[in-house]
Amino acid sequence: MVTLDVTAVRSRFPALARSEGGRPVAYLDGPGGTQVAEMVVEAMAHRLRAGTSNLGGAFAASREADEVTAAAREAGADFVGGRPEEVAFGQNMTSLTFAVSRALARTWGPADEVVVTRLDHDANVTPWRLAAADRGAVLQVVDFDPADGTLDLTHLESVLGPRTRLLALTAASNALGTVPPVRWAADLAHAAGARVFVDGVHYAPHRLIDVVALGADFLACSAYKFFGPHAGLLWGRADLLESLEAYKVVPAPSMGPGKWETGTQSFESMAGVTAAVDYLAGLGEGGSRRERLAAAYAAIRRHEESLAGRFLAGVAAMPHLRLHGLADPARPAERTPTFALEVAGMSPDEAAHRLGVQGIHAWSGDYYAVGVMEHLGVAERGGLLRIGFVHYNTVEEVDRALEALAGLRAG
Ligand SMILES: Cc1ncc(COP(=O)(O)O)c(C=O)c1O
Repeated sequence: MVTLDVTAVRSRFPALARSEGGRPVAYLDGPGGTQVAEMVVEAMAHRLRAGTSNLGGAFAASREADEVTAAAREAGADFVGGRPEEVAFGQNMTSLTFAVSRALARTWGPADEVVVTRLDHDANVTPWRLAAADRGAVLQVVDFDPADGTLDLTHLESVLGPRTRLLALTAASNALGTVPPVRWAADLAHAAGARVFVDGVHYAPHRLIDVVALGADFLACSAYKFFGPHAGLLWGRADLLESLEAYKVVPAPSMGPGKWETGTQSFESMAGVTAAVDYLAGLGEGGSRRERLAAAYAAIRRHEESLAGRFLAGVAAMPHLRLHGLADPARPAERTPTFALEVAGMSPDEAAHRLGVQGIHAWSGDYYAVGVMEHLGVAERGGLLRIGFVHYNTVEEVDRALEALAGLRAG
């Protein structure tokens, strides 16, 4: 069993050495974007320094761009448990989701239904809402339980039927940390004859993505949430990527993942994605990169669960804080260490500002999880304060956050 050496981990991230106002920064804003491993920075800088070029040219720098692309597809495939020919890159998850939604919508009509959830980030809602509207299809929105942030499975079951063409579901909520039962939902959706599009963005830094085990037809995630650069990654089942008609220019590839990649890609970002996957795999052990990733994520999960347990216990002891989402420390499998909080008598922006001046980076607002905030009735009050931990965060940072939160008590 691999254990995480957090001190060694931290030494691999240059940004973690940053201090503000004489204090080291506590990066508790991982759900908004993680810090970048040094080897990622190096891989990207190397790509640019060595000489760059577009794909398919008859000279060395162009052949290198081809190699970088192929290597990134292999790394992406290992990362999600798919095959290299099923991995496409793009600017971010949102633009890739819009691309797939446009292509899938071409197969829908007015009698069809599309299912999204209130738990999802808007990037996995609005593309589907707009695509459904374009085709006159009906949008069904599944609720979650406001008491604990878990998906309303009965509601989900009730909206899936023979008219359902798509279920769009997050593998983890970037607001409440909820990890819904994607496989269970995917099986139901497939039984109804629907496709399943999984948002893997918030799941990716915390859990090993396994597109087969999740039962996904498509999955999109973003490398800047898993210690890499600002680049989006789309995995799609090979037969679907092949058969669907992508919105593309005529000379662009009409076969393979390239047909989903509009224009020229950021080759330096692709090199960075490969390095981010290699960084994560390097935390584990095993014969293949996929095996090393699995061991690494097991260690990451153990560490994160201990941080989450400590944070939950601390928050439970502070009556001026209200946690939205799963508070039960006995159910760690159902959440990531991402916590949405209400501070009595203080707006989320004010709370984040007070933490910020102490060098604690935390987010406030809706973080584009607009359905979550509306359903919790906090949208008009400025959303919620969000504190999120990833594997490079420490027990000391949990305690520092708790101490700072204690200091937000009114009076
Ligand atoms: C859960 C989730 N899905 C989707 C997105 C959108 O990702 P991107 O910025 O890559 O478009 C985010 C970004 O915060 C997110 O947290």
